[in-house]
Amino acid sequence: MGNSGTVYIHQGLNQLFAAGRSLILVQTFEEDRLQNLLEGLAKHYGKELWVWSVNLGIQRGAETIDQTRHPEDALAWLSNREERPVIWLKDMTRHDRPEVIRGLRDLYYRWRDGGFAVISATSRLIPPDLEREMAWYQLDMPAQVELVAAVKQWSEELGLSIALSDQVISATLKGLTLAEARHALVRLKNDPPPEDRVLAVLQEEKRRLVSKIGTLEYIPRVPKLNELGGLSNLKEWLAQRRDLIVSTDDKDREIVPKGILLMGVSGCGKSLCIKAISSAWQLPLYRIEMTRVFSGAFGSPELAFANACRLMEELAPAVLWIDEIEMGLSAEGSSAADTVLSRIFAFFLTWMQEKPPGLFVAATANRIDLLPAEMIRKGRFDQVFFVDLPTQSEREQIFEIHLKRRGYEPAAFTPEVFADATQGWNGAEIEQCVIAAVTNARMEQRDLQLKDLYATRKQIVPISQTMEEQVRHIRNWAYERAVRASAEE
Ligand SMILES: Nc1ncnc2c1ncn2[C@@H]1O[C@H](COP(=O)(O)OP(=O)(O)OP(=O)(O)O)[C@@H](O)[C@H]1O
Ligand SMILES: [Mg+2]
Repeated sequence: MGNSGTVYIHQGLNQLFAAGRSLILVQTFEEDRLQNLLEGLAKHYGKELWVWSVNLGIQRGAETIDQTRHPEDALAWLSNREERPVIWLKDMTRHDRPEVIRGLRDLYYRWRDGGFAVISATSRLIPPDLEREMAWYQLDMPAQVELVAAVKQWSEELGLSIALSDQVISATLKGLTLAEARHALVRLKNDPPPEDRVLAVLQEEKRRLVSKIGTLEYIPRVPKLNELGGLSNLKEWLAQRRDLIVSTDDKDREIVPKGILLMGVSGCGKSLCIKAISSAWQLPLYRIEMTRVFSGAFGSPELAFANACRLMEELAPAVLWIDEIEMGLSAEGSSAADTVLSRIFAFFLTWMQEKPPGLFVAATANRIDLLPAEMIRKGRFDQVFFVDLPTQSEREQIFEIHLKRRGYEPAAFTPEVFADATQGWNGAEIEQCVIAAVTNARMEQRDLQLKDLYATRKQIVPISQTMEEQVRHIRNWAYERAVRASAEE
């Protein structure tokens, strides 16, 4: 690809270069992307990029070097030269012969003073004899900066008339591979939408990708973290891990967050919270539709679920939302549906262990006591949070959020007093109360008054009252087993 614009330096690869690793195996399916990355790195280190393949031999710029198609010949030729370029050896480790291994080892020692030999392969094909000399790097999904750089370059090449801001690019195209992102751009080029539709067209590309599979939904618009009242322990947990989730640093691999399980009383903001994670971390959000998984329309539920998980691996980095993960489980157990679900759980638990980093699973459950014990054991989810009925100060915050959202200045409505008058309420009920009061005032064609709120308050009976028994059961269960999402008061 062209040389215009700024050079993007891939962090993970650069770390190996900076450490002077002269022999590197890069595992990837994206050869054109690797070419770009190597061009960037070569430039950064003031070197030329040469390329070897078994079909063409060594290519140095426009020049093809004779008699270098055999790997051993190419390696001997390189070892004998003074230059220290970056050489990209395509699939070289497929030629697993003693002469080739010897040649690679020689090159490794020769080039420790400044050359870089990068072998590309689609799997981790390191000859056992070279385990120590050869560094291995699995190319991750394009990071935000890389995506932005690539999109800028293509926009230029395609002569795209629409200028995309960095923010739009990362918000709408993140989660696509570079190839898919490019399709989206070509679509903009061939069928330019009006300016206010650009975002929708780009989002459409993502939706199209996941809708193929039927059981996943891309959730385009997500509320911000400040629209979620209370739950400060959970918010703090999220803030601390924001940088880790998209880290491409190898040493972070083990500690990249895998997922959380939110359990708790209905209407207290579990779903809202998951959407807020996606916006706080600026990662696209996808939801597995469990009802569709179970519908049978996409193959057996087990297969449909596994397929959705596999597709998600390709969409990482992203947040995968599994709402009401216990759906279909009955308290009695052993029904036919339970058997299917236990097979899905078994798959899910293994998958959680092996899924790629950067794919964050956020699951919610109302009846976590029904879930198998392995599900909640440490190591699957990083944390199990209990989202309880909001405390006094949380009710205050939630009340303020919903007044503000509807254009009212909260201070005029004594949030503190209102919060005190709504003990035992959940967030959904507080919101409902605000909506009903606003509606009443509108119908009488006047502004909202305090009395409207108190009038509607009397009409709402909270579930902590109507379902007292169940709510108490959930709370008792969770107190001992989960971390509270709210700070203690
Ligand atoms: N902490 C909160 N801050 C702001 N709004 C809230 C909060 N909790 C609930 N709400 C309001 O109530 C609505 C319903 O909440 P949400 O769907 O997130 O609850 P949930 O815990 O997922 O409930 P369920 O278990 O029934 O799915 C939200 O869309 C939001 O408007
Ligand atoms: Mg919910």
